Amino acid sequence: MICAGNWKMNKNPDEATSYVSSLSSSLRSGEEQKLILLVPALCFSSVAQGLKKTKIGWGGQNCHWQDSGAFTGENSVQVMAQMGATHCLVGHSERRQFFGETNKTCAQKIAALQKHKIIPIYCIGETLAERDSNVTEKVIATQLQEGLAADIKPNLILAYEPVWAIGTGRVASTEQIKAVHGFIRAWLKENRAPFKDTAILYGGSVKPDNAKAIASTPEVGGFLVGGASLVANDFLNILRA
Ligand code: PGA
Repeated sequence: MICAGNWKMNKNPDEATSYVSSLSSSLRSGEEQKLILLVPALCFSSVAQGLKKTKIGWGGQNCHWQDSGAFTGENSVQVMAQMGATHCLVGHSERRQFFGETNKTCAQKIAALQKHKIIPIYCIGETLAERDSNVTEKVIATQLQEGLAADIKPNLILAYEPVWAIGTGRVASTEQIKAVHGFIRAWLKENRAPFKDTAILYGGSVKPDNAKAIASTPEVGGFLVGGASLVANDFLNILRA
């Protein structure tokens, strides 16, 4: 069970330092390997420093596919790797919606991360309009087909996040989660056999009080948590649920 926390554009470096110190001092044995923090680039230094002696994973929420160059405002994977990052989000729905991320740029980012030995967490999921028009599976199949391009290796994590459940407090039902996670697993087996055992996280309004039911849903390999990861104790309680 993996528990990844997406801070989004929250916290400053001082807040990041106190968060990681409170998180690492509350850990029980065996927990640190299961935790990943996806933090704003401005907090990389604080988080890298604070987690140095732990096995907690960390990394960015977005990256560029080139190591360096004229890409104003972007984050270099090469530098993230030099700083010790272990994971990075790719294709989060907020990136797709507000910053024009496409399945094709996701594939380039995934390849760049793998080149630098950072594990990509590739986010997929349908909007409410897509669910209402019964194209959920079609949308997800396209995201998988185009995002997991030919040069990509199975060393990655998938995160299914129905867009309508992100930050809305409206969690998908365990039946809905079971159906989509099952579809993803079947699609991988049929179309990308080397990826057949890839962990599939669920994300979208996961909280300490709904985590247990979702965790026991078939094919749920963990969580991608936004809002509820901002308080170290809530984040740990989700893992413990
Ligand atoms: P949420 O966000 O937990 O606040 O719904 C999840 C995410 O965006 O990854």
